[in-house]
Amino acid sequence: MPADPSGLNRRALLAAPLGLAACERFASVPTSAGPLAPPLKSLAPFPIGATGMTGQLDDPVWVAAMRRHVSQITPEWELKPERILQSGFAYDFSASDRMVDWGHDQGLRVFGHCLVWYSQGLDVFTDALPTARFAAEFDRYVSTVAGRYRGRMVGWDVVNEAVAEDGDGLRDCVYARKLGAEAYIVRAFQQARAADPDAVLFLNDYNLENNPRKGATFLRLAERLLKLGAPIGGIGTQSHLDIEIPAGQIRGFFRDAAALGLPIHVSELDFPMQRDGGRMPDLRSPAEKRAQQVARVGELAEAFMALPARQRFAFTTWGLRDTDSWLVREEGKNRPDESALLLDARGRPNPAYQAVADAFGR
Ligand code: G3I
Repeated sequence: MPADPSGLNRRALLAAPLGLAACERFASVPTSAGPLAPPLKSLAPFPIGATGMTGQLDDPVWVAAMRRHVSQITPEWELKPERILQSGFAYDFSASDRMVDWGHDQGLRVFGHCLVWYSQGLDVFTDALPTARFAAEFDRYVSTVAGRYRGRMVGWDVVNEAVAEDGDGLRDCVYARKLGAEAYIVRAFQQARAADPDAVLFLNDYNLENNPRKGATFLRLAERLLKLGAPIGGIGTQSHLDIEIPAGQIRGFFRDAAALGLPIHVSELDFPMQRDGGRMPDLRSPAEKRAQQVARVGELAEAFMALPARQRFAFTTWGLRDTDSWLVREEGKNRPDESALLLDARGRPNPAYQAVADAFGR
């Protein structure tokens, strides 16, 4: 079991009563000290991914960090309907082409996110649109976008976040209302398969570990869609982790997910230390929260590593360094001091890095 940077291994750190005192060391170590983290992609026998955006492509420090750490990139928004789909069902591929070209120029696998998302495209995909036109434009969008990058995408999130927020059934959305609750999903997968026979096609969702009911609904949905003829090739668990969930909950979801037999993509991993407005003030020290974070991230990495090799599609973080996270940006949670990823602002290992390295056996 390799020791962590300060000479302690994670389990000793968390199990022994001195764990919190030892964690103080993490909390007190200035994140700008110490060596750069060893390449993440050297830790794992499967692809390590991270997001990127056109605004980062001209930043040589970010480019160098991506080249050092990852073998796969997910464009964070450029392949989404909000960026490609314009008024009058016109398409603008300028940003998506730039991201896909850049990824290939760097020798990275490029993962497409996402073709259909309940929350996007709503300026043109409206309830008022005649259903025949709605269906034709839906098919044209999915087949045109997936077809444009045929042979260049290792996989696609074909439908994102189809399960209801609380896990009770499917989410209501205009696509479901116009084309049918499950039918729009089957349709999207069939259009994507016809447009790109080689990309692995994923059903992707969030809170699957955080909310066992939602995780169970998601897995049942995937099974049902397969029976309905949807060519689902993999399942994506976004893994925006709630670090406060009970130990074992993550392991339980991965055990159930593995039973489906499909490749699994940890597609958007982050693990915020700060919570959305909770009822009670959080009186714990940064070290106590770090210990909780390290425990949960370690559980997830161990659960992913325990999957059969053919089911470990990729392990992607939603941002590479703390400062690349949506959580620090205005459109996210606007928390400039959040530390929710494996690398700090300067590419040095956060405490969770060692938990992942331990889990991957490196
Ligand atoms: O970069 C442009 C800027 O040039 C322009 O002036 C501005 C005007 O709106 O938009 C900027 O783009 C923003 C983009 O993030 C890059 O920062 C978009 O408005 C904004 O909508 C977009 O937000 C993204 C969000 O999904 C919605 O697409 C976040 O970056 C992205 O992290 C977030 O990611 C989602 C996953 O897709 C699904 N799972 C949850 C995850 C986090 O919410």
